[in-house]
Amino acid sequence: MLTLDHAILKTEFLGRAAHYFETLASTNTTALDLAKRGEPHGSVIIADAQTHGRGRLQRGWRSPAGVNLYMSVILRPQVAPSDAPMLTLVSSIAVIEAIGLCGVNSRIKWPNDALINGKKVAGVLTEMELKSGAVDFIVVGIGVNLNMGEAEIQQMATSGISATSVKIEAGGQAVDRARFAADLINSLEAWYLALVRGGNTRIISEWMDRWDGLNRRVRADLDGNLTEGIAAGIDENGYLIVKTDGGGVRAVVAGDVNFID
Ligand code: BTN
Repeated sequence: MLTLDHAILKTEFLGRAAHYFETLASTNTTALDLAKRGEPHGSVIIADAQTHGRGRLQRGWRSPAGVNLYMSVILRPQVAPSDAPMLTLVSSIAVIEAIGLCGVNSRIKWPNDALINGKKVAGVLTEMELKSGAVDFIVVGIGVNLNMGEAEIQQMATSGISATSVKIEAGGQAVDRARFAADLINSLEAWYLALVRGGNTRIISEWMDRWDGLNRRVRADLDGNLTEGIAAGIDENGYLIVKTDGGGVRAVVAGDVNFID
């Protein structure tokens, strides 16, 4: 069973309570259940395998046993619901940083995939529950392909782009999963605190430093019209800012845009 390496963990609150499982349907589903029953801010749920791992846009997330990281964290931030996408940005930054500690350079594909050499290595699924119009809790689910080999990667059915693992991109060097999980949680807590103490602007700029989409061409569905333009950044709601060829500036959501270059 995969557990956190507590010799590496340096956090104040994140991962101090942790629940480990051999197999779950989905760590996000279990985290949502636990959070509804009062599980505290900072709790982490890790499974060695998932039978119904969930991705964005109702997609599945392939989750074989013994090779990868499937983790969800429960956060109870005092932010407006409109600021919730900032938690996804923070998580993406932390994923890129933790992969970097394995000696591998990865980049963010908007809205929240991590890519190495153009192939998907990790994804983030953020789910929020409101109470009386305020954020009750946010579950951030992170899946990272760590030690899958080429044969397993070939079986991955992801979002149309090809997949990879950190091990493959590190020339076959296996990743210590317990260490990676602790590194990721350290990084996630540090960036979370940077957000709550420092605000959105710094996080957006750090995210853009790790983003591979700046100034790339996009085709967006704007009110039913397909329009091309240039990706210019993201706004405070996590929307993509597109400078259209017609001279306008629009903010678009993930389902409505494709990168075309
Ligand atoms: C995506 O890229 O579409 C997001 C994938 C998120 C997968 C992780 S694995 C741990 C957590 N539990 C889930 O069921 N999903 C997330």
